[in-house]
Amino acid sequence: MTKKMWGGRFAEAAAASVEQYTQSESFDRALYREDILGSKAHATMLGKVGIISAEEAVTLCAGLDQVLSEIEAGSFVWKRELEDVHMNIERRLTEIVGPVGGKLHTARSRNDQVCLDFRLHVDARLGGWSVELGRLVDVLCARAEEHAQTLLPGCTHLQPAQPVSLAHHLLAYAQMFRRDFERLHDCLKRVRVSPLGAAALAGTTHPIQPAQVAEEVGFLSTFANSMDAVSDRDFALEALFCGSVIMMHLSRLCEELIIWSNPNFGYVRLPDAYSTGSSIMPQKKNPDVCELMRGKTGRVYGALTSLLTLMKGLPLTYNRDMQEDKEPFFDADRTVYASVSIMADMLAVLEFVPEAMRRALTKGYLNATELADYLAAKGLPFREAHHATGAAVALAEKKGVCLEDLSLEELRSFSPLVEQDVFDVLRYEAAVSRRNLAGGTGPESVSGQILALRAWLAGIR
Ligand code: ARG
Repeated sequence: MTKKMWGGRFAEAAAASVEQYTQSESFDRALYREDILGSKAHATMLGKVGIISAEEAVTLCAGLDQVLSEIEAGSFVWKRELEDVHMNIERRLTEIVGPVGGKLHTARSRNDQVCLDFRLHVDARLGGWSVELGRLVDVLCARAEEHAQTLLPGCTHLQPAQPVSLAHHLLAYAQMFRRDFERLHDCLKRVRVSPLGAAALAGTTHPIQPAQVAEEVGFLSTFANSMDAVSDRDFALEALFCGSVIMMHLSRLCEELIIWSNPNFGYVRLPDAYSTGSSIMPQKKNPDVCELMRGKTGRVYGALTSLLTLMKGLPLTYNRDMQEDKEPFFDADRTVYASVSIMADMLAVLEFVPEAMRRALTKGYLNATELADYLAAKGLPFREAHHATGAAVALAEKKGVCLEDLSLEELRSFSPLVEQDVFDVLRYEAAVSRRNLAGGTGPESVSGQILALRAWLAGIR
């Protein structure tokens, strides 16, 4: 049995079941890079302020580098009985450099150490998410550019409402993912705070310089309160909230693609690489990737809920419960990263079917608002214009035709203000092209949106 690093006061070994129950090595070994980075920063600082000698600091850093290469080469032997990533690395370091390895933990506790590791990890992963979000916005802009002239029914209540351009529809998602990116970057300001130096909870008597460690690891600032530093996990909660919103946005897009790929809509054809068949029905092409992404959204919400629940009853400061903070994040990270990335890849090759969208425009009286606005512009109070248009729709519906198929006389029977120019106004293209207010679906607005997004993309690169 390996002797525990905290084993000084213990006479008996832990029960095997307890060792298995309490260990975190099986999952927190994912933090090895961050643990070594943090330890090197700590050792360097200890050397600089003279708590250990400069040579000892160099020895520790070289030893830590060796541990890193052993882990990356796969030759490192992880020991479950050493509990976690921190003790596994420290034990191996001490084997390599000898007793000086024991000096690494001066003025440090696993409580501030694990928090630094986790913050570094969240920082790195959110960086990965944001690169993929930028790529997704880029793909959406490219597809929007291709489809500035493609019109489809815009819906409310999933019922046909008004014509919009496909570009405008896609750019709505680009705006969501841009905000998601910005949310991540705002959250990162609070992630990049070094807790090292808080030690167990009360700080330390050693003359350390926490700011030096922060700088060394590329963080922006240091903790303001040592008790807060070791016991707060709201940086991870915020990250999980950001991830949840990203998944919610992706899930809505997936839902649309699922509907659009149904042959009754037929607005998109799913690329073979992103759909699957049925084992019994030979004709099927199912939108499984979209369905799974919609489904996996629940896991990410679950991770957020799990960490919120984990934290809600904990008195200050560190409690072992907090070891349960990592797995939900790791799982959410895998899901968010893969989902954003696959969505960007899939959208790049998705086939839109403009003819099917065009055909759908003539179902559902999408130009009724145009008629009402036409009458209102001629001085009829909008409520009356709305009523007259409603009556015209009822007639068209009875005859089984579109509004634009009614004769001038028929239309004039609802209001004498109707003239020949009404037919131009009722064109679906006109309904879109006349909405050029900033942020509208008109082509000038749409190219302005693309320009602004592209400028933003250039700025984040
Ligand atoms: N494995 C632990 C965790 O993830 C590290 C911190 C342990 N601290 C302690 N006082 N037992 O939270």
